[in-house]
Amino acid sequence: PGVTIRLCATSDIPEGEVLRVDLDDGRALAVYHWEGQFFATDDLCTHGDASLSEGEIEDGRILCPFHMGSFDIRTGEAVAAPCSIAVRTYPLTTREGEVFLVD
Ligand code: FES
Repeated sequence: PGVTIRLCATSDIPEGEVLRVDLDDGRALAVYHWEGQFFATDDLCTHGDASLSEGEIEDGRILCPFHMGSFDIRTGEAVAAPCSIAVRTYPLTTREGEVFLVD
């Protein structure tokens, strides 16, 4: 079993929104609340120096604010150019109103 790291409260992220969470080890994650579930990816776009948490969620995809490429927030797959490299995803669990990273 892995370590669990508390990321935020479920109420910190309204449905359809995304929040940047900085971990103590220097990693920055984008945490998404979409259709009642929570997902996480690296915050850094794989195309350039953009923060995905500053983008918009549309139809289960995060649109990068820089060049409007996009990724599937569930799988990290790059789904629109100019993004072509998947963004890393992280397994999450929710418990008693808190969101945890299962590392
Ligand atoms: Fe994200 Fe270019 S930096 S699409």
